[in-house]
Amino acid sequence: MPSSSETRAPPRHHTRLGQVACGLALLVTLIGGALALRARATQPRREAELSGLRLRLVRAVWLHEPTDHGDAAALPALPGAPTQGQRRLAVELTVFNPRGLPVDFAPQELLLTEATTGAVWRPSTGGSAAHTLRPAESLSVTLGFDVPPTPALLRLEWARGTERAALLSTRRPRSPNAEPPGWPRRVEELPPGNASAGSDLFHGRLACTSCHGNPAEPQGPRIGPALGDFARVGATRVAGLSAAQYAYESLLDPGAFIAPECAGQTPCARPSTMPLYGETLSPQEMADLISYLVTPRTRE
Ligand code: HEC
Repeated sequence: MPSSSETRAPPRHHTRLGQVACGLALLVTLIGGALALRARATQPRREAELSGLRLRLVRAVWLHEPTDHGDAAALPALPGAPTQGQRRLAVELTVFNPRGLPVDFAPQELLLTEATTGAVWRPSTGGSAAHTLRPAESLSVTLGFDVPPTPALLRLEWARGTERAALLSTRRPRSPNAEPPGWPRRVEELPPGNASAGSDLFHGRLACTSCHGNPAEPQGPRIGPALGDFARVGATRVAGLSAAQYAYESLLDPGAFIAPECAGQTPCARPSTMPLYGETLSPQEMADLISYLVTPRTRE
């Protein structure tokens, strides 16, 4: 696995480099067809400091309903499962008090908002107890947000007094039984893919390398997960999904599942910056890209 275990804890300047690289990447994608507009407009941050507390988003993942893939993908043991039709966004945070005085924190300061309707969700699990953090104390918090069906872009925000920070933008994954508009549900229904055409798209016009680096060089600089071992790793991401199906769903709906390598650490800062490609790729291009991604690489 070319990932987290090998990645050393990066010094701060790496983070800034990553941000510069990401800015550049966004420019590249903008030229490529305004792909990244949405990601840029919200500018989520993984870390924020508000009114005396520092908060870090460690992981965010949409939990799968047990029936999603007709398999045994079980919900993690969280108290109280989401009610029917709702989908839970599980969020792991750490909060740190850098000051010399105790500071209060309430998990209800975290909210999920829907810009278009103004709807707001507070944590439905893990959010009841308030805490007082002693100086230099840090606290980990796991929250669940239960969200009814909505196609809109959602933002995870931290609101403290009059200050607000956006931590993540994401979409509720579509029901796997509903076809994404204009796209077949199963990757097998796409036209046959050509890995070498996919490689040209990946390295060329679509500039996937600007975030993911060169899959043949897993140690190279990048701000998204390494994709060199994707044929193997991709198949382990979501129970019941092949690497190809998972890549397909990731490209149609990047927020549906946040790669674990990314959710917690640099170089994968800013978990949901991946643009939405479903709106810009043709089915043939989609098939070519996936075929390139799931071709095992010999040089690792
Ligand atoms: C602006 C940066 C950016 C660009 C450009 C980008 N990605 Fe991503 N990609 C990410 C980030 C960040 C993640 C991890 C968060 C997530 O899982 O959504 C990711 C995740 C993925 C994953 C899931 C990886 C895993 O291990 O779970 C795949 C597959 C992927 N990208 C493919 C692509 C392809 C193909 C392209 C080009 C068409 C592309 N990406 C372009 C940033 C980017």
